[in-house]
Amino acid sequence: MRSRPHRLERLPEQYFTALLARVASAAAEDGEPVIDLGRGNPDVPPPPHVIEALARAAGRSDTHGYAPFAGIASLKEAIVERYRTVYGVDLDPAREVALLPGSKTGLIEFAQVTTERGGTIVLPDPGYPDYRSAVALAAAELALLPLLGDGRPDWDAAPKEADALYLNYPSNPAAVCAPPGVFAEMIERAHSMDAWVLHDFAYGDLVFDGRRPQSFLAEDGAREVGLELFSMSKSYGMAGWRLGFALGNAELVARIEDLQNHAFAGIFRPVQEAGVAALTGPQETVEERRALYEARRDRALAALAGLEARSEGSFFVWLRLPDGVTCERLLEEHRVAIAPGEGFGATGRGWARLSLATPDERLDEGLERLRAALELESG
Ligand SMILES: Cc1ncc(COP(=O)(O)O)c(C=O)c1O
Repeated sequence: MRSRPHRLERLPEQYFTALLARVASAAAEDGEPVIDLGRGNPDVPPPPHVIEALARAAGRSDTHGYAPFAGIASLKEAIVERYRTVYGVDLDPAREVALLPGSKTGLIEFAQVTTERGGTIVLPDPGYPDYRSAVALAAAELALLPLLGDGRPDWDAAPKEADALYLNYPSNPAAVCAPPGVFAEMIERAHSMDAWVLHDFAYGDLVFDGRRPQSFLAEDGAREVGLELFSMSKSYGMAGWRLGFALGNAELVARIEDLQNHAFAGIFRPVQEAGVAALTGPQETVEERRALYEARRDRALAALAGLEARSEGSFFVWLRLPDGVTCERLLEEHRVAIAPGEGFGATGRGWARLSLATPDERLDEGLERLRAALELESG
């Protein structure tokens, strides 16, 4: 049998698949049920009117053939209107928006459409593990850009030239929002490195403590250097539906649509129509969801008082483990799972990511176990 192609050999272990397997194997052993605070899977469903729109569209006979490959115009118009009203950004729906079957797909596609084999892609460290998969699948070289304490990249560590640069605010796993001036720096560095920029905005609306959502595209010059990815998964609880957008640079949007014309055949039309309902219908649930995560964040930080822990946005808390404590031990001995920081990059060693996308009762029970395991005073 022929060996696996080189690109697949380069893929890292899929971090979340491996994490789920470790949690499942611990759960299969005798003992208390495991509480999983490792996984970031939204626990609140989409608003009812969105589910009704899906059901209505699926009940029609004209929605089951191939949808237009590039998507229906009303969905592109709906996301453009949202960008205008929520983020103060004006986009051209015909040229500056591509639909994605989930923004995760866009992470992989961005590398494909910007970088030749052997080119360089710069990733944040710590960062979302699937960015590394994008580098491997493009047969590109990886350069890491450490994030400093406030989430700002350590630009001194950046290569002089690169093909692509990925950044992500609010960030997973570090849970920091964009520090002041960082978007302008990204644009400046993109020009000096001659790199395309991808800003991953998956947690864009989930910001805490009175912060306002901040789109990269609101920065002057952003659309000349790259794209922003918006996800329906977190703002509307539609993670399983697989719907997202790439917005900004018209040349890159065209390249992504071209790639998708070859690799996919559009997104199920009822999902697109329900996406329109989500984006144009009542928006209260976006704020309710944000406030729910913020309240959980407050409970988590109170329970973990005494540890170095932070969360300005996203639905995660990023915390430093006390010396000698490992996530493996917490799982095996205390039956609570959190995601080990080193899986997000070398700077994550000694840290861990706790997910707030967990129903309140389970979150509280998980926090209680962590507090006991880490011998923290009552929060
Ligand atoms: C930082 C980040 N980017 C992108 C994604 C992908 O989101 P989706 O493909 O559901 O739009 C996730 C999902 O967890 C994420 O955490």
